Amino acid sequence: MSVHKSNIKRVTTHQLQEMKNRGEKISMLTAYDYSMAKILDQAGVDVMLVGDSASNVMAGHETTLPITLDQMIYHASSVVRAADRAFVVVDIPFGSYQGNSKLALESSIRVMKESGAHSVKMEGGAEIKESIERVLSAGIPVMGHLGLTPQSIYKFGTYTVRAKEEAEAEKLIDDAKLLEETGCYAIVLEKIPSSLAKIVSESITIPTIGIGAGQDTDGQVLVVHDMLGITQEFKPRFLRQYANLSEVMTGAVENYISDVKAREFPSDKESY
Ligand code: KIV
Repeated sequence: MSVHKSNIKRVTTHQLQEMKNRGEKISMLTAYDYSMAKILDQAGVDVMLVGDSASNVMAGHETTLPITLDQMIYHASSVVRAADRAFVVVDIPFGSYQGNSKLALESSIRVMKESGAHSVKMEGGAEIKESIERVLSAGIPVMGHLGLTPQSIYKFGTYTVRAKEEAEAEKLIDDAKLLEETGCYAIVLEKIPSSLAKIVSESITIPTIGIGAGQDTDGQVLVVHDMLGITQEFKPRFLRQYANLSEVMTGAVENYISDVKAREFPSDKESY
């Protein structure tokens, strides 16, 4: 039986909170385009993140820094058109919110208004508190992001595990509590020790969503191109590859090329 669109209930921040309360894990994947987002939504993923990782996987940049607000809005609009059930979260890109709460508000309003997304995400703790407050004051739900924050890659100098030292771990716990107090409805914890992710997840009441943060976060997120094996060069320890689409796609393209060269495509049945 096909489910009519109007019968499908959209996931909400309230439901994500209820999932944490009853111990049901939250599934989140990145999405950047309509066709992929359609597959993820129909498969039942709870949250689709229009991550600024689009800068890497869609545009081929080395970091997430170059992607623009206009480009994020383009990706987000495509994903929103495909999302009947999933909650759609959009990264506010580098340079569109840091240290300037008015800019943060303007960027977030543009994302919500022009793409139709349901929430924004921003990287950082105490240093972006004012920006988060101002965005929340406009009624826009904000997801936080702590641990490895790729927009600060040139400050860290490396993509290795964060907060292994006590001082950084303590700041991360304080930041998580601050984000909760400020009004964030969930926090991404990226590439931190599992033991720390467990402490954070138990210290705050809002859901944590981990990537490279172990079992004990309230949900998990992966970059969809990585977990489907479309990207080949990126294989960190935390990544589970659920398919090898790169191999499948390469085989299909090779078959197509050889059929074209051998005049086996198109056949009479495939012609008018
Ligand atoms: O941009 C992104 O894909 C992200 C996830 C890694 C959480 O922020």
